[in-house]
Amino acid sequence: MLRVNVINNFFNALLFIKITFPRSRIFALYKRMSEQQFIPSDFSILTQPVSVGWQSPSNIALVKYWGKTDVQIPKNASLSFTLSACTTQTTIDFLPLSKPSSSVDFELFFEGKKNADFRPKIIDFFKRIAAYCPYLRHYQLTIRSSNSFPHSSGIASSASAMSALAMCIMELEQHQQPEITDLFFKQKASFLARLGSGSACRSIEGPLVGWGTHPRIPNSSDLYGVVLSDSVHPIFTSYRDTVLLVDRGQKEVSSTVGHNLMNGHSFSDQRFLQAQENMAGLIEVLAKGDVGGFVRIVELEALSLHAMMMTSDPSFVLMKPNTLQIIQAVRAYRKETGIPVCFTLDAGANVHLLYPDESAEKVMEWIENELALYCQNQQYIHDRVGSGAKKM
Ligand code: PMV
Repeated sequence: MLRVNVINNFFNALLFIKITFPRSRIFALYKRMSEQQFIPSDFSILTQPVSVGWQSPSNIALVKYWGKTDVQIPKNASLSFTLSACTTQTTIDFLPLSKPSSSVDFELFFEGKKNADFRPKIIDFFKRIAAYCPYLRHYQLTIRSSNSFPHSSGIASSASAMSALAMCIMELEQHQQPEITDLFFKQKASFLARLGSGSACRSIEGPLVGWGTHPRIPNSSDLYGVVLSDSVHPIFTSYRDTVLLVDRGQKEVSSTVGHNLMNGHSFSDQRFLQAQENMAGLIEVLAKGDVGGFVRIVELEALSLHAMMMTSDPSFVLMKPNTLQIIQAVRAYRKETGIPVCFTLDAGANVHLLYPDESAEKVMEWIENELALYCQNQQYIHDRVGSGAKKM
C-alpha cells in the first residue's frame, strides 16, 4: 500500500513538474545545474605567492554571434577559426592575503603602464565570476597585459584578453587543486572567458571552435566553447587570415549595445534561424573540404551581421567606403583567378581575408600590390589558423 502511494506520489510529482514548469524553465534549471559544476565545493589558499602567464589568440567568427540573453548566453550557435599571430600576453602575480578582501584586489598594467581605462571591465568580470572563483578575494593580483597587434588597430582585443585572463585564473585554481583534469581546466577557462566577453570562450583552443547549442555540434553548450570534433578537411586547418586594417578608429558601437539592439529587432528571429541553418551547412562544407560552399556561407554570414546593424534602431553603418572597395575587389579577383579567397567582417570596418594555405603566395602578392592601398597607412596583419592559448 505504502509502495503504491509512493509510486502515485512520484507520478503526481512528475505531472506537477510538467504543469508548473514550462520547457524553458526546465531548461533554465538544467543550465543552472551545469553551471554548478564550476563552483568549487571547497578550496585551499596557497601560502606562497605564485606567478602565472598565458598567451591567448583572437578568433574570427565564420558563423556570427550577434544577440544574447543574460548572462552572455548566445541566441544562436557560432563557429570560429582560432588565430595565432593576433594575441594577448597576460601574467598575474598572486600574493596571498592574511584575510580576504571584500572584492578582488588588483592592479592592472597594460603595455607596461598602469591602466585605468580597462579597470571597469575587469571589475565587472570579477563580479560575474565571483561565485565560480571565490578564492580570488584571498589574493592581491598584479595583472600585466600586452597585445601583439598595435593598440587601436580596430582589432577587437576582448577575446584574446579575456581568454588569457581566464587561463591565468585557471592556472591558479590548478595550483590550489592539482587533481583537476585537463578537460575541466579548459572547459572552465572557456566558461569564465565567456563571462568576460562572449566570443572569448572560442579562443581557448583551436583550430575551429563552436559555441552555443546546435544539433550538428557534438557536446555543444551555451556555457562554453567546444572544439569541432567532427572531421574537418585538412584544407581548413591551415587556412590563412589577413586582417586588412581599413579603419583604426574606436569602435562606433560597443558589442553590448550591438547585441542588445537584437532584442525587438524586426528581423532578429529570422536571423537566429538563418545562423542555425548556416551552421549546419558550414559543418558539412568543412567536412567535405568544399571551399566554394565555404566562400558562400562565410560571406553571407558577414553581410548578414552588418545587415542586422544597418536595420536596427538606432541603425549603424560600420563599413567604410574602403571596406566596400575591398569586398568588390575580392569578388572580382576570385572570378578572374578562380582562387577561393573570401572576406569576413567583425562589428567594424576592417576586413578579414580568408584563403587556403596553398594560395598564400599569390594572394599575398595581390594584397601587397592592390588591397594595401585601401588600408589605413597601408597596414595589414598576416595571420593563420592556430591551436589556442599557450602557457608562457
Ligand atoms: O564577444 P562580443 O560580445 O564582443 O561579441 C562579438 C561579436 C562578433 O565579433 C561581431 C561576432 C562573433 O561571433 O565573434
